[in-house]
Amino acid sequence: MDNTHILVTGGCGFIGSNFIHYMLSRYSARITNLDKLTYAGNLENLKAVETNPLYTFVKGDIAQAADLERLPDGIEVIINFAAESHVDRSITDPDAFIETNICGTYRLLEFAKQRSIKRFVQVSTDEVYGSLPESGKFTETTPLAPNSPYSASKASADMLAMAYHHTFGLPVLITRCSNNYGPFQFPEKLIPLMISNAIEGKELPVYGDGLNVRDWIHVEDHCEAIRLVAERGRVGNVYNVGADNEWTNIEIVKGLLDILGKPHSLIKFVKERPGHDRRYAIDNGKIKRELGYRAKKDFRQGLEETVKWYLENSEWWQRIKTGEYLEYYEKMYGGR
Ligand code: NAD
Ligand code: TYD
Repeated sequence: MDNTHILVTGGCGFIGSNFIHYMLSRYSARITNLDKLTYAGNLENLKAVETNPLYTFVKGDIAQAADLERLPDGIEVIINFAAESHVDRSITDPDAFIETNICGTYRLLEFAKQRSIKRFVQVSTDEVYGSLPESGKFTETTPLAPNSPYSASKASADMLAMAYHHTFGLPVLITRCSNNYGPFQFPEKLIPLMISNAIEGKELPVYGDGLNVRDWIHVEDHCEAIRLVAERGRVGNVYNVGADNEWTNIEIVKGLLDILGKPHSLIKFVKERPGHDRRYAIDNGKIKRELGYRAKKDFRQGLEETVKWYLENSEWWQRIKTGEYLEYYEKMYGGR
């Protein structure tokens, strides 16, 4: 990826900012970051690279053709992270999910077509496959069966991206990753919400019976997979990304409390999420076979490091929690 000009969209969010740090610390790629700076976009995530001459930030919306037209010439690779990403928000207010995840991806595909981009990586999610029973795993040929407005909008984007490959020959690749955790994750998602609440001595709201299963991967392992797919994946292909690491939510929450030395009595079972997917699990055989991929981070170590990061960066998440987030928290959990 050295000397490649990459457009990262949504680079001020959790995974996008980790990806920019990952790339700039390993390659001499030029990175242009286009981000709308929604509630989830935080320029502080990129403080450490803002003076790097290889890095440029552009404030803009992937759904606005005029914003895309302002981007510099010479972009070779697009990695589309930009999205509304939180399932609970998609249940209370789906508008932005349709606008950004569907219309935005469409605009970006059009832009890629006009600019003759060499690789277009659509960063998708395992949630497009729907929910699994107790056994089985999602493969790349599992039919799409999304259940939330979030996952339906991501599935729509995947289909548009593949249609642009088949119809116009656009060199599209899709990654579908399982649940990520690590530094800079917005404290509305399970792991950072539970860590920050526990540090503050607040209740830890677990939906339903807490037995829903997610397949967790460290964000850096996800970034490595995206880099590999961008570099060497076969165009027109989907690559699942996962770390063979399934846990129930209640196991995760208790594990975090144990790492922090806080009592399990902080756990509060609250009303179920509507349409809550029971289980996700990724079969990552294809990316292993074709690209030699291996997730590296040990889960216990990854969780301990993540807890340490949130302890050492409490100002980062406290600033978020005292802002607009407070209103959101009241709306989500006030009546639960
Ligand atoms: P995030 O919500 O933390 O960040 C999203 C970023 O996109 C923010 O910086 C936001 O400002 C920006 N953005 C939103 N709308 C935009 C628009 N219209 N134009 C430009 N920028 C816009 O999300 P994340 O957790 O970092 O997820 C990144 C991508 O990875 C998403 O596409 C998501 O579907 C996918 N994904 C996430 C996970 C996960 O566990 N978090 C797992 C698999 C896939
Ligand atoms: P989340 O981090 O929102 O990711 P996703 O819904 O995309 O998998 O949630 C992960 C799991 O944790 C999911 O089963 C819902 C559950 N959860 C809770 O039990 N309590 C919470 O407060 C949140 C945010 C999530």
